[in-house]
Amino acid sequence: MTSKGLTRGKSDLRVGVIGAGVMGSNHARVLAQLPGVKLAGVADPLAESRSRVTGFVDCPTFETVNELLAAGVDAVTIAAPTHLHRDVSLACIANGAHVLVEKPIATTGEEGREIIDAARKKGVTLMVGHVERFNPAVAAIKEAIRGEEILSVAITRVGPFPPRMSNVGVVIDLAVHDIDLISWFTESEIDEVQPQLASAVAEREDIALLQFRTKSGVLAHINTNWLTPFKARTATIATRNKYIQGDLLTRQVTECFGFQRDGSYSMRHLPVGHDEPLRAELMAFVNAIRSGGKPAITGEDGVASLEIAIKCLETRAKPVAAPQPRAASK
Ligand SMILES: NC(=O)c1ccc[n+]([C@@H]2O[C@H](COP(=O)([O-])OP(=O)(O)OC[C@H]3O[C@@H](n4cnc5c(N)ncnc54)[C@H](O)[C@@H]3O)[C@@H](O)[C@H]2O)c1
Repeated sequence: MTSKGLTRGKSDLRVGVIGAGVMGSNHARVLAQLPGVKLAGVADPLAESRSRVTGFVDCPTFETVNELLAAGVDAVTIAAPTHLHRDVSLACIANGAHVLVEKPIATTGEEGREIIDAARKKGVTLMVGHVERFNPAVAAIKEAIRGEEILSVAITRVGPFPPRMSNVGVVIDLAVHDIDLISWFTESEIDEVQPQLASAVAEREDIALLQFRTKSGVLAHINTNWLTPFKARTATIATRNKYIQGDLLTRQVTECFGFQRDGSYSMRHLPVGHDEPLRAELMAFVNAIRSGGKPAITGEDGVASLEIAIKCLETRAKPVAAPQPRAASK
């Protein structure tokens, strides 16, 4: 159990999955095939979710988190609904389990910091599931901008309404991925936020145009919505010497460089890997546990992205007062 289990040398790391819905069942599928890992079981109060997992992998299932913890785990991944992330993470950490919690880390920055403090005190690894960082196209872009002076970042993440509407809008559900990417690409914190939000169909915002300036002076922009009939995910970065365009779905990344005074330039496609992002993320989590090193996405990273997303919601433009009727001239 817990970190003691890691001293077993070559023995498998026992990892449990909490919440076996859309995301958690993917965690279970990937963990079941990860070398050096034993899927210790999944915990979910819904029988339907549990049987979805046992439909493709043979593992114990539990109705509650406590039953899973009692069965013995070294680590857990938490893909329960976001409003439960704090309580579930704290229970697992108290039990000595290393934790990967899905994005967003929690519902508020304060809750996120409680998780960070608990993990630090207990000496367990805490990682946040900002899986887009493990998209091979994103990794190729990151590699292409290494050592470059970044001027601007523009990210588009649009698509149709999700089949099940959650209780959050596009900023917390989608833009939080890209807020994390902007900080990661620029290696700088977001300093200024200028959001434009609208609720065209849903109760919460379903269109967001978000502008940012990082502490390092980079301008960034996110265009996200649930009103586009097809999914599109692109990232474009301008640096002093290059212009890089990446399609995060087709994973085609193109670099323009060698700008000449006559307006000509060179262009090339960059090599992009084929790894499944979730597999790479979970491998990074396991490696961080085994090495005791800093995880790829820390709790602090998760809180920073969440707090910028919340700031976007709180900074929404004040309603413009309706024009006053002109006083009738006498
Ligand atoms: N990284 C990503 O790209 C990504 C994508 C989708 C969702 N997510 C995140 O994953 C989390 C889950 O989202 P989802 O779309 O899979 O939701 P979902 O509704 O499909 O699944 C949630 C599951 O949690 C279960 N659950 C509820 N209470 C529980 C409890 N106390 N203990 C254990 N399980 C419990 C539910 O029964 C359900 O099966 C959210 O935080 C979401 O933001 C991340």
